[in-house]
Amino acid sequence: MSQTIPERVFSGVQPTGNLHLGNYLGAIKKFVALQESHDCIYCVVDLHAITVWQDPDELARNIREVTAAFIASGIDAEKHIVFNQSQVAAHAELAWIFNCVARMGWLSRMTQFKEKAGKNRENASVGLFSYPNLMASDILVYRATHVPVGEDQKQHLELTRDIAQKFNNDYSDRIAQLGLGVPMAVGDEAVNGYFPLTEPVIGGPAARVMSLRDGTKKMSKSDPSDLSRIVMTDDADTITKKFRKAKTDPDALPSEVEGLQGRPEADNLVGLYAALSETDKSLVLKEFGGSEFSRFKPALTELAVEKIAPIADTMRRLQADPAEIDAVLSKGAERAREIANGVVADVKEIVGFVGARG
Ligand code: TYM
Repeated sequence: MSQTIPERVFSGVQPTGNLHLGNYLGAIKKFVALQESHDCIYCVVDLHAITVWQDPDELARNIREVTAAFIASGIDAEKHIVFNQSQVAAHAELAWIFNCVARMGWLSRMTQFKEKAGKNRENASVGLFSYPNLMASDILVYRATHVPVGEDQKQHLELTRDIAQKFNNDYSDRIAQLGLGVPMAVGDEAVNGYFPLTEPVIGGPAARVMSLRDGTKKMSKSDPSDLSRIVMTDDADTITKKFRKAKTDPDALPSEVEGLQGRPEADNLVGLYAALSETDKSLVLKEFGGSEFSRFKPALTELAVEKIAPIADTMRRLQADPAEIDAVLSKGAERAREIANGVVADVKEIVGFVGARG
């Protein structure tokens, strides 16, 4: 597929507390790397957070914490855009239009909704069900072409492409008539699309970081066990304790990646080492193949402390001055609004609303 919409990166993190190593290695670390090559927009998605209950004081604290984590990890909020979602109304506006583009059947297939709603679906918020439409809006309100995320967001990004494609098809004549289209090839067909078909940026050894207590379960903010995850604000003692207690198996590490098959905990810890040291699993196994966990775990702990502790220190320093964080967010929001409002005005005109440019 060829498209000529300029490349732009967008991604978001929910301010729901317990920001963990999976969030950092699967997403935030990639956000940092993409700054070198792309214009980037990074968002603290507070509208998404309230799809399940959030205590208001905690929510405000968590919004500042994620912002601090972005900056402490190396995101440049001057050069790129960092803001919280609720300050840019265009996200919610476009999400409404997407509520009318996406089909019930598409959303019903979302595994994240099924997991989060659990057995009591009747009692889940409507927002939790339509969550992926808001996520599509976050991305497409900037016509973003690339979205770095962990593996668990893949299905949502496929839905984002489906929404973009349906919108482009449904309104193709109008888009062409208004001269707002960009020629793009979808399969063999040449269409005039308004929205890009966004590419997910997923991969590397930490695309899916698993729980330290159960290598078959994703590391998550909501796991009842604190021992299941390293959180970004853990101190050296806590990190040491969590890795010491991390589940393993009785065998030594294999010397080839294939030997990790059927050994989810070993695979996860080797993947963490690889991601933290910016190599791949085969190189880690070259060094540690044949080692017992009693040798590997301390090495992993030392590496994790070396990488995480300075970020945690900077986060703490930044969080001591909430006004400074709030200033970053409001400046970012102003810049984000400029782009997003232009896209919403285009979309309103495409849809046929009157007064779109008023
Ligand atoms: P959230 O807040 O759950 O997670 C933030 C990012 O961390 C990644 N992640 C993981 N990566 C590897 N291993 C794990 N165990 C792990 N757990 C989480 C997530 O994949 C994500 O990249 N729906 C999104 C937020 C969102 C968004 C967006 C993302 C809203 N709008 C637009 C991209 C673009 C979410 O709940 O992420």
